Amino acid sequence: MPMVEITNLRKEYKNLVAVKGLSLTLEPGDIFGFIGPNGAGKTTTIKMLATLLDPTSGVARVDGIDVTEHPEEVRARIGYMPDAFGVYDDFKVWEYLDFFASAYRIPRPDRPALIDDVLELTTLTEKKESYVEELSRGMKQRLCLAKTLVHDPKVLLLDEPASGLDPRARIEIKELLKELKAMGKTIIISSHILPELADFCTSVGIIERGELIVAGPIDAVMREVTGGRVLEIRVPPSDRPKAAEILAGVEHVRGVKEAGDMLRVDYTGTLDDQSEVLLALIYGSVRVQSFAEQETDLEDIFLRVTKGLVA
Ligand SMILES: Nc1ncnc2c1ncn2[C@@H]1O[C@H](COP(=O)(O)OP(=O)(O)O)[C@@H](O)[C@H]1O
Ligand SMILES: [Mg+2]
Repeated sequence: MPMVEITNLRKEYKNLVAVKGLSLTLEPGDIFGFIGPNGAGKTTTIKMLATLLDPTSGVARVDGIDVTEHPEEVRARIGYMPDAFGVYDDFKVWEYLDFFASAYRIPRPDRPALIDDVLELTTLTEKKESYVEELSRGMKQRLCLAKTLVHDPKVLLLDEPASGLDPRARIEIKELLKELKAMGKTIIISSHILPELADFCTSVGIIERGELIVAGPIDAVMREVTGGRVLEIRVPPSDRPKAAEILAGVEHVRGVKEAGDMLRVDYTGTLDDQSEVLLALIYGSVRVQSFAEQETDLEDIFLRVTKGLVA
């Protein structure tokens, strides 16, 4: 069963359609990068999933449960981190977490160990007795994430968790997200600035004016947008003509170019097919020194897809 299933979700504000029939399915463990410029409808979509806004029409389910029919049950399964979080400055860090743990009805005797766990996960153990107001912005952001974890939710809805952070704090958030990924959480993470989501999301969707213009596994999106992937192969100069000739005969190869000391291959096959390219070269006795797929550049995808659309 999908962990998140959105079908034709629509949200109208007075005279504006913020989300226009959005559909999306996420399997358990998926990390979905929800990308789009300001005003595209990311927050509105996330708030509907978080049961904080009623959809005008359409259906959203979390772990099989309808968000409008059973909001309480959905809330028990999600951790929602809003784009602007309220600060409870005169709380100590552990009190802040204890407050949310009690709101989620976690029994008092269970809370100290739980709080220690989430503090450790978010590397805030040393700040346990500090006041929230004494924390740096990056630490506050991590504390906010810690807060969304106290009830061990299956699904995390993170609305621009890295926005407004300096590069160092961004890296820390990213490390934390990787741990959450390893824990098997299903995560929706939105961004308008494209942080380095590419190496960490399993799928992405690009939203523009309330519509998902492209969505899917990250390399499928890449292929849809670029029409293929690029393989970079390093062979000694003397082997290059032979390599180019062999490559031209391999299925799914659309073109071969020399770029510096690399051969760049335009490739339309799947990841499973890709090993055939390397095998063909090896069988042809080409001395392959390195073989790699050009890195997925999310920024590039974004620019191609939204070209001319972004205000
Ligand atoms: N409460 C509201 N009332 C009216 N319009 C709203 C409200 N909240 C958001 N909008 C509008 O809906 C659109 C989508 O906003 P939002 O979901 O916040 O986008 P994003 O999070 O992608 O920046 C924008 O045009 C925004 O101005
Ligand atoms: Mg927003």
